[in-house]
Amino acid sequence: MKRFITFEGIDGSGKSTVSKLVYEKLKNNGYDVVLTFEPTNSWIGKIVQKNIKTQSDPFETSFTFIADRVDHCKKIKKWLDEGKIVLCDRYAESTYAYQAAQMQDIIDKPIKWLKELSKNHIIIPDRIFLFVIKPKDALARIKHRDELIHFEKIDFLAKVHKNYLALARGNRFLKLDATKKIDELVRICIDDIIK
Ligand code: TMP
Repeated sequence: MKRFITFEGIDGSGKSTVSKLVYEKLKNNGYDVVLTFEPTNSWIGKIVQKNIKTQSDPFETSFTFIADRVDHCKKIKKWLDEGKIVLCDRYAESTYAYQAAQMQDIIDKPIKWLKELSKNHIIIPDRIFLFVIKPKDALARIKHRDELIHFEKIDFLAKVHKNYLALARGNRFLKLDATKKIDELVRICIDDIIK
């Protein structure tokens, strides 16, 4: 049984929809489960949410996302100590994939740098579900949204996609074909969490 599970993928990959359904199904089956997300709704999270609506500085963006996560981890630790299953819609791998994409022409080995900054301050997930979809297909899914943030552009998402695939070599990851039917994705996630 896995306890701390994160849902990752580029914008439009469907991970939020699936994580909500996984949460509901686990809860209805009697599991003590929490669904949380990043950026959070804390005061730091609100700064992050404001920050990503503008063309922000990648270092400011990285530090604020990480600060929000360090604060979030205090709550995650409490839930885990209480015996709950914690599902998190976006977590550290979002920073490694997105902010490294922002910084790839600015610093050397940005993923390594971001991981160094985070380690010792964050909780490592038991499982990271990566929803894999081509950037053009993901953008086609979200193009009707009223407000697209500056990350939601094909060239940028292509870099993020590449970073996610590079990160996903570790055994904590389970790559999922995000074009599969939602019910099937939910079933795969639940089977993997409770096995
Ligand atoms: P959301 O659409 O899943 O709510 O996420 C908001 C945006 O923030 C999305 O484009 C991904 C981005 N993001 C980062 O760039 N770095 C991070 O660490 C996180 C958590 C999100």
